[in-house]
Amino acid sequence: MDLELAHRRFLVVGANYGIGLATARLAAQDGAHVAVASRSPENLAKAAAKIAAEPGRAPLQLVCDVTKDGAGEALADQVADHWSGLDALVCAVGGSVRSAFADLSDDDWLRNYQFNIMSTVRTIRALLPLLRTGDRPAIVMLGAAASKMPYAHQIMSNVHKAGLLGLNKTLALELAEDGIRVNLIAPGRTLTPLWLNRADKMAAEQNRSRDDVLAEFAVEIPMQRFGTSDEIARNVLWLASPCASYVTGQALNVDGGIARGLL
Ligand SMILES: NC(=O)c1ccc[n+]([C@@H]2O[C@H](COP(=O)([O-])OP(=O)(O)OC[C@H]3O[C@@H](n4cnc5c(N)ncnc54)[C@H](OP(=O)(O)O)[C@@H]3O)[C@@H](O)[C@H]2O)c1
Repeated sequence: MDLELAHRRFLVVGANYGIGLATARLAAQDGAHVAVASRSPENLAKAAAKIAAEPGRAPLQLVCDVTKDGAGEALADQVADHWSGLDALVCAVGGSVRSAFADLSDDDWLRNYQFNIMSTVRTIRALLPLLRTGDRPAIVMLGAAASKMPYAHQIMSNVHKAGLLGLNKTLALELAEDGIRVNLIAPGRTLTPLWLNRADKMAAEQNRSRDDVLAEFAVEIPMQRFGTSDEIARNVLWLASPCASYVTGQALNVDGGIARGLL
């Protein structure tokens, strides 16, 4: 199926590696104009080189830290320097921290709130004017399967990713009359630097190999394996594409079956 991505203007926030990079790379391969945004200029240049090395266009590189006040407006200004509108916005910044509830301070909670919720809120709010002038515009935010089936010892991201479900549904209702669709992808365990770093840390603490740690976590997944960034990204692209023209306010698990709830 042709997702009709050719010439669509895509902004992927959190695109230096992992799911964001896969989304940007696959969109560029399908002929989209892509802008990638992340904190580190060095990593942005590396991500841009990976995208440009495959068939497709070299992406715009936009430096930003979306956990900071004013970052959304600064990002929107950079996009507006190049494009008169935006057709797809992907918000991929976020992540989980393994910790016991009693060990977390107010500062830990507020930092994670900035990381998982405000990063997405301020990005969408600032980019809305450009989305309103886009062609069949769509927003896709990255939540987590854990928002529907909370894991023990990941309380901050369980709480904040669940908040994104409310943001997703409410924005979809509010922006439908502007023709902007809003959806969320809820990945399960996916082999990105986020998980590889976590597995390395656990392996060092427990004097085990990374593969041993990953295998233990894979056993809990009905499909018995971690997902790949490309497997998540393909679903992000579908929701961001005109092919999902009648889909809004949905939160789609892409998780090998790990979230066992009915809804
Ligand atoms: N991987 C999984 O198993 C999994 C599971 C469930 C949900 N998810 C969700 O899926 C999304 C992507 O996950 P991932 O595993 O691909 O993450 P990742 O490998 O940690 O990549 C995160 C990306 O975001 C950028 N970034 C981080 N903080 C930023 C900030 N403050 N401002 C701008 N850019 C920032 C990083 O680049 P720089 O460091 O250079 O800025 C990087 O490009 C996240 O929301 C995550 O919670 C992932």
